[in-house]
Amino acid sequence: MNILSIETSCDDTSVAIVKAKGGFGRPAFDILSNIVSSQVKIHAPYGGVVPYLAARAHQKNSPICLEEAIKQAKNIKINLITVTVGPGLEPSLWAGVNFAKSLSLVSRIPILGTNHIEGHIYANWLSVNKRLRVTSYKLQVKFPILCLVVSGGHTQLILVKDYLKYKLIGETRDDAAGEAFDKVAKLLELGYPGGPIISKMAKKGNSRAYGFPRPMINSKDYDFSFSGLKTAVLYETKKNSPEKLKTQKIKSDISASFQKAVVDVLISKTLRVAKEYGAKTIMLAGGVAANQELRKQVVEVFEKQYPESIIQYPTPNFCTDNAAMIAAAGYFRHLKYGPDKLKNIKADANLRVV
Ligand code: KG4
Ligand code: ZN
Repeated sequence: MNILSIETSCDDTSVAIVKAKGGFGRPAFDILSNIVSSQVKIHAPYGGVVPYLAARAHQKNSPICLEEAIKQAKNIKINLITVTVGPGLEPSLWAGVNFAKSLSLVSRIPILGTNHIEGHIYANWLSVNKRLRVTSYKLQVKFPILCLVVSGGHTQLILVKDYLKYKLIGETRDDAAGEAFDKVAKLLELGYPGGPIISKMAKKGNSRAYGFPRPMINSKDYDFSFSGLKTAVLYETKKNSPEKLKTQKIKSDISASFQKAVVDVLISKTLRVAKEYGAKTIMLAGGVAANQELRKQVVEVFEKQYPESIIQYPTPNFCTDNAAMIAAAGYFRHLKYGPDKLKNIKADANLRVV
């Protein structure tokens, strides 16, 4: 089936056309187009996403992205429209939801509302990673899967017991991991979004230069907390003169030490949960899953300490927000539940996956 998907939950407008086949037994996705229009330039001066500016840009860019997506997919006939209904920024979500509903109404193509977090999880089905024992169209998916969802808005450990069956094991009590990257980048005047630039700076830095805390690393529950870590970075920056703070050396050392602290906490909790719940596959998902240090360490740590598991993460372009992942999630949901009634589709900023 050919799926047209629309994603506007935050600050990227994305439209994709994906050919999905194989059902639950042998799912495969052929991405005919996946257009992502970034709004980074609009929000960068504010150091974060401004919701009403984001919604306005979505309204402006959605038809342009659609036109390009159709062109690249060579006018293929569409069987289903999927759209992100939440979670996300409400004004942004409504822009995509109304665009998708209008398309469905005039074309009479069935529509399905999709959860953004589910999209991040099923992004793992879009890409293949040969180094990690996975080959094209033969994605090894052994349930239960433990998925670490780390994005700008979420940090959750989700046990995927089977397709569309989830149990939330732990989540952040304050800032999301990506949010921490963004805030620390702001403190270091590195720009927005913070993740990519911090990871770039970290490559030149010493991760042992600063002993930042590993919040909640030994707590018995499986929750996270990143706001204390951000405050520790703030105190560290205050100890230095503005001139010294401007040097590349200090920015790289703080970036590397901060990134190491985040990665240590994420991996340590994921490992504990994986062992406790007997996870057979470990997946990363969300924008922070594009982080090279996290990707490297998850392989190193699990190969040593939990070698029986399969490790999977999406290629970096499928980690950050994109509409192709919404098509994948929509495909599985459609297989099980069929389309939604048009009148039932509405934006829900706080939608949960479980
Ligand atoms: O999933 P996503 O595109 O949007 C949300 O659903 O939030 O994630 C965006 C977040 C931002 O906070 C960004 O700084 C972070 O992902 N991010 C990264 C990297 N690339 C993006 N964080 C760490 N390392 C990266 N390479
Ligand atoms: Zn996202």
